[in-house]
Amino acid sequence: MSDSSITRVAARRIWDSRGNPTIEVEVSLSSGVTGRAIAPAGASRGSREAIDLRDGGSVLGGNDVQRAVANVNKSIAAALTGMNAVEQGEVDAALIALDGTPLKSTLGANATVAASMAVLHAAAADKQCPLWQHIADISGQTPSVPLPEIQIFGGGAHAGRRVDVQDFMIMVPGAESFDEALEVTSEIYRAAGAIMGAKGRLAGVADEGGWWPQFDSNEEALETLMQAIEAAGETPGDRVVISLDIAASEFSVNGRYKLALEDRELDTEQMIMLLGQWIDNYPIVSIEDPLAEDDRDGMIAFTQEYGERIQIIGDDYLVTNERLVHQAADDRACNAVLIKVNQSGTVSESMACLSAASEHRYRGVVSARSGETEDVTICHLAVGLDAGQLKVGSFTRSERMAKWNECLRIADQPGAGSFVQGAPLDGTWWARR
Ligand code: PGA
Ligand code: ZN
Repeated sequence: MSDSSITRVAARRIWDSRGNPTIEVEVSLSSGVTGRAIAPAGASRGSREAIDLRDGGSVLGGNDVQRAVANVNKSIAAALTGMNAVEQGEVDAALIALDGTPLKSTLGANATVAASMAVLHAAAADKQCPLWQHIADISGQTPSVPLPEIQIFGGGAHAGRRVDVQDFMIMVPGAESFDEALEVTSEIYRAAGAIMGAKGRLAGVADEGGWWPQFDSNEEALETLMQAIEAAGETPGDRVVISLDIAASEFSVNGRYKLALEDRELDTEQMIMLLGQWIDNYPIVSIEDPLAEDDRDGMIAFTQEYGERIQIIGDDYLVTNERLVHQAADDRACNAVLIKVNQSGTVSESMACLSAASEHRYRGVVSARSGETEDVTICHLAVGLDAGQLKVGSFTRSERMAKWNECLRIADQPGAGSFVQGAPLDGTWWARR
């Protein structure tokens, strides 16, 4: 038995940023170190993502995680005990084999992801190195500090569908450092709040902490975002640019897109035209899930039309699935993939998905979920895997700020690499302008 052998794996139920139950796993090694990680939870989930196992029934709205906790404490603990924590690939292969289903429906991806990430933490503790360093070691990547993508207004499934678009975000590719990107974001976030307050439109915040979208149209949100960027002393399209997550699967019904707020129904072609107008009228560099997860022809057509101008991210469309990334590359659909570890269920499968993306020159954006906690593993993944971009929600609420703050700490550590600045957006009009 080596010092990094797993001696104990234990789960407990804890609570996420929506006050819903989630699962935390602790892994101990024979050297005496421990690692701990927490599963996040989505609200606008892709239908092809790994299963978040919930108990159903009437307790806690059916969201309790006692079965997932039991799966960790019994079968996962039995399977992982004695394994070498430093061998993340072998640990994840054991989890995949134990589950035996394509979507982790036996154990629950919430159980496997918390276990997989806890092992990663334990191995780093055993090596007495920062987590990002251990991740860089096992992935063979050169660490870098990612460009943040930060939500100013929430919407869609995170705001009672008050507006159709789910995330109105900014990026600061012209910043010289991660810290500078956050400083600019803070000014813009506060300016947006002041503008909404002055219009009598301030109504709290959405699930990820972005301002509640008290708007009459999606365009009004975009206009207000432009005003906020200007009020913060910036020129939109210069140092600061706009990024959207349409999360279009959420409002697609039978192949049509129902814009609830505007009482309009669009077909795929009209939806692409609408997004095209936004791309023409606003400094938008990135759009996530512009079309629904099952609208393959639409995603191909949209990529053909705009793939040279903007970053097109597949979230629900690719669900951190290596096979779907290869398929999309064959189709020439999307040019970037969102990496959410719990969509795949293990660290290794998420790493494989990101490798597949790089193989096809697709960009990678490591992402949080709308249901989050103090867990900051994704910051280390973004750095250690040299993903280039990180999306964790807004610029408020501690489950979000914990991650931005962790990136600041990492950026100060020797070897964490340099801030990528505009590099992830090479090829978009922002970089060519
Ligand atoms: P989630 O959505 O609610 O599924 O976490 C976040 C996203 O769409 O990026
Ligand atoms: Zn998304």
